[in-house]
Amino acid sequence: MRLFVALNLPKKERERIHKAARALRDQGMPVRWVEPQKYHLTLKFLGEVRTDRMGLIESILGNVAAASPQFSADLCGFGAFPTVRRPRVVWLGVEPTPALRCLKQDVEWALADAGFDRETRAFHPHLTLGRVDHEDGAGAFRGLDDLVSELTYTGSVSVRSVELMRSQTSKGGATYTVLSSYPLAEG
Ligand code: 2AM
Repeated sequence: MRLFVALNLPKKERERIHKAARALRDQGMPVRWVEPQKYHLTLKFLGEVRTDRMGLIESILGNVAAASPQFSADLCGFGAFPTVRRPRVVWLGVEPTPALRCLKQDVEWALADAGFDRETRAFHPHLTLGRVDHEDGAGAFRGLDDLVSELTYTGSVSVRSVELMRSQTSKGGATYTVLSSYPLAEG
């Protein structure tokens, strides 16, 4: 199973984000826009995992979550990876606050102890809003740099749990399913 660990947002916030990102969608850029019910923040991508390792992952996530306090995640501006001129992913940024970084590191280290590869890339917390399939010329995204710097978004969500998610990919795009949810410790 293709698995990842994520933070999910309340429906209301996802809808607010979707609305705010309308100006981006209206540009007619060659982007596959993600449906708002699929917006999430990936803490750790596990990739293909054998089902006999599920129990171990579940107990690790349960322990990490129980030792991590609830916190607020602040949502900030829009942007794109690797650059706004040649984007592969269009995103809404999430403030890398100490609480979020700590949780990410704790998940990372606990899973590394269990033999999962550690992420070596810097952590850029984000919600993917859209993906670009092909190397379209930079011209296809003309104006995106101005637009993302003009578009503002501020939001704050209360993070009370971490989820183990399954991703199933098909021609029509990915389907995400919450396999299990682990509550964070109350204040
Ligand atoms: P993305 O949204 O930035 O594409 C399910 O596929 C989730 O796992 C998505 O949030 C995706 O991030 C992330 N993901 C997919 N492949 C990944 C990889 N190789 N490394 C890190 N994250 C990955």
